[in-house]
Amino acid sequence: MTKPQTWSQRFETALHPAIAQFNASISFDIELIEYDITGSQAHAKMLAKTGIISVEEGETLVSGLETVRQEYRRGELNPGVEAEDVHFAVERRLTELIGDVGKKIHTARSRNDQVGTDTRLYVRSQITAIRDQIRQFQQVLLTLAQDHVETLIPGYTHLQRAQPVSLAHHLLAYFEMVQRDWERLGDVAKRVNISPLGCGALAGTTFPIDRHYTAELLGFEDVYANSLDGVSDRDFAIEFACAASLMLVHLSRLSEEIILWASEEFRFVTLTDSCATGSSIMPQKKNPDVPELVRGKTGRVFGHLQGLLVLMKGLPLAYNKDLQEDKEALFDTVKTVQGCLEAMTILLSEGLVFQPPRLAAAVASDFSNATDVADYLATKGVPFREAYNLVGKVVKTSLAANKLLKDLTLDEWQGIHPAFEADIYDAIAPRQVVAARNSYGGTGFEQVRVAIAAAQQRLSKP
Ligand code: ARG
Repeated sequence: MTKPQTWSQRFETALHPAIAQFNASISFDIELIEYDITGSQAHAKMLAKTGIISVEEGETLVSGLETVRQEYRRGELNPGVEAEDVHFAVERRLTELIGDVGKKIHTARSRNDQVGTDTRLYVRSQITAIRDQIRQFQQVLLTLAQDHVETLIPGYTHLQRAQPVSLAHHLLAYFEMVQRDWERLGDVAKRVNISPLGCGALAGTTFPIDRHYTAELLGFEDVYANSLDGVSDRDFAIEFACAASLMLVHLSRLSEEIILWASEEFRFVTLTDSCATGSSIMPQKKNPDVPELVRGKTGRVFGHLQGLLVLMKGLPLAYNKDLQEDKEALFDTVKTVQGCLEAMTILLSEGLVFQPPRLAAAVASDFSNATDVADYLATKGVPFREAYNLVGKVVKTSLAANKLLKDLTLDEWQGIHPAFEADIYDAIAPRQVVAARNSYGGTGFEQVRVAIAAAQQRLSKP
């Protein structure tokens, strides 16, 4: 095992073992190793290009770093606490492999700009992966919507039945929410994709470096204009955690609905065996663990957002070791969001079976067509508020008589208002109630088909 780190000649003894442990981030920032290597390779190329080191030294560094990468991928590089963090681990191994030239890699660089670079490369690549997952999730939502344009489901306000809607319309609401998440993450990526490399410890460097060159090699859109800001900015991490939190708000709301729908009280869906779990004691049970876990995991991602905000609020410029605490929050946010998206995509594609007969019975057995009676009268010239009051009375008397609106006779209708004619029965049939809401963005089948086409269009664009 390599000896514990002592810093410069200024230090005489090594760290107390417990403090070394406390200080080390290697147990988690090893996650950044590939980004650290890529960033270091770009840095080495820049050092050679600007003549800070020789071209041969640059090549030796780049290929030595590649060997470190291969060793890591083969599982041969397992740095412990003595390495302190991933940056030291890579530099040490590099120097072991290529000798003294390895010691040149840290010329004109600090771990402060280095860790900022690694973390941004990591977040950038995870955003791409998450956006791809969102696209898959949207595709599953869209396929389900296509199958259920004409399936009706009660629409709710205040969790009270309000007006029936097309199930496709309901599902497409989630398509829209996650579309915003997809766009928002793309927007966040713009501010993630700025290079702090070359900001040095805090003040820049005395070497004639070329920051734009390393930025270009690493695919960054821009470079930080101020070195103090560059090494200490974690806005991008907070923005990412915020976009992730909102994404989980959406998945959590859908989860809550699925949990309700799967309950005995609703029975709008049944869960397939591949996505439900049993109880260890109650043999009859089938539990919606997947949406429950998504709902639960949402809380921990909110926690990471809060943690990052509090982490930053009191920090003086520039780098402070507090910033090391951003890593676990970010890594766990990424892992959680990816896990939730994957599970929800599977749940929607094979875990749920909607129950059309049960849904049809639900929309036919309530007063969710009451607005349509009022609208009916309003189109016959009765002022809407007057019609609304009249229908309120009808609902009251029908409830007392244990009848639904569809059970009233034409005589009864005409007794309420002479404007009622035989076509009232069509107007209040659930299918017609839904079809009639043909305003743009409404649940009318025609509009839902327009929305499906628009959704397809969006998915076909890169
Ligand atoms: N492990 C450190 C972190 O994650 C790397 C930067 C250390 N910089 C320093 N000045 N001690 O923030």
